[in-house]
Amino acid sequence: MGLQFSSDEIGTKMNLANIEQLIDKQIDTNYRTNIFEHELASIDSKLITGLKKSFLSEESKKIILEYCTAYFMQKLIKYDQYISFTDDDVVALRNVYKETLEEIIHRKRLSKKTIENNHFLRIKAFLLRTNPFLKEISKDGIKTFANEEYSASFQMEILGLDKHHIVGPILDIGCGQNFNLVKHLKELEVEVYGLDRYASKQDNILKANFLSFDYGVNKWQFILSNMAFSNHFNRHLAFNDEKVEKYATVYFKILNSLKVGGKFIYAPSIIEIEKLLDKKKFSIINEEIGYGLFRTIIEKLTN
Ligand SMILES: C[S@@+](CC[C@H](N)C(=O)[O-])C[C@H]1O[C@@H](n2cnc3c(N)ncnc32)[C@H](O)[C@@H]1O
Repeated sequence: MGLQFSSDEIGTKMNLANIEQLIDKQIDTNYRTNIFEHELASIDSKLITGLKKSFLSEESKKIILEYCTAYFMQKLIKYDQYISFTDDDVVALRNVYKETLEEIIHRKRLSKKTIENNHFLRIKAFLLRTNPFLKEISKDGIKTFANEEYSASFQMEILGLDKHHIVGPILDIGCGQNFNLVKHLKELEVEVYGLDRYASKQDNILKANFLSFDYGVNKWQFILSNMAFSNHFNRHLAFNDEKVEKYATVYFKILNSLKVGGKFIYAPSIIEIEKLLDKKKFSIINEEIGYGLFRTIIEKLTN
């Protein structure tokens, strides 16, 4: 969505019609700045001056805050797929931007330097609170963990799916921005839904955090997840961090949402948690898929 301002807000003082590009430029400029290592991050002077001189309605401020929050999160997730945010984190980030916007607009005596320092201290505190592992991995400089997406045929192969034996309803957890597998399965005329943190105009693509999604009970014939839920779960297990418990709880909710006879198929395997499953309730198969990786096929045998 583009930002739109009424002409009296744009006014003669500063043309705010391009504020969206200024925010993009602002976030893009600092994209590779490691704020954990005392690197100086900056705010575009044009953006500060423009906002200072403009009269913005509450509605316009809201639009700006929504835009900054969404764009910043989108960039962070692209930079490192392991970064994650809860719904409360989204509200907290919006508040960080709100404070900065208020400082720019109402505290006219604050210098650019002070506004920048305050803003990046708040951003840093926000990131450390929500994704503490970032401090560790950025010690040796910026590393990115790009969010790869795979073709439908490659995902069918990795998950060992046979198009003649797959029936709906199906849920693909972490289906990706392009939801390739969901598109492919839809063409086979099965009832299929994708779940990801990216918004989509397609009715069958659900935008949600897979850690807070309501999976339901006895609902799905197949639940699929390629390089998404289990990949993240494994990473938290490796760090043995505070998210492990949450992932484990959601893992059991996912299994509970299968119909009897339904299957949860994912790659890579999560050996540590699979060991804990009740063998009377679930059958578990691990199959090697190459690259030293395994896929897991869990069938729910009984309720
Ligand atoms: C490596 S991509 C794989 C995408 C797709 N399954 C494929 O194989 O092409 C991982 C996906 O998981 C999604 N994801 C990661 N954490 C998520 C979360 N907490 N809630 C929803 N989706 C998430 C990402 O947005 C991304 O699209």
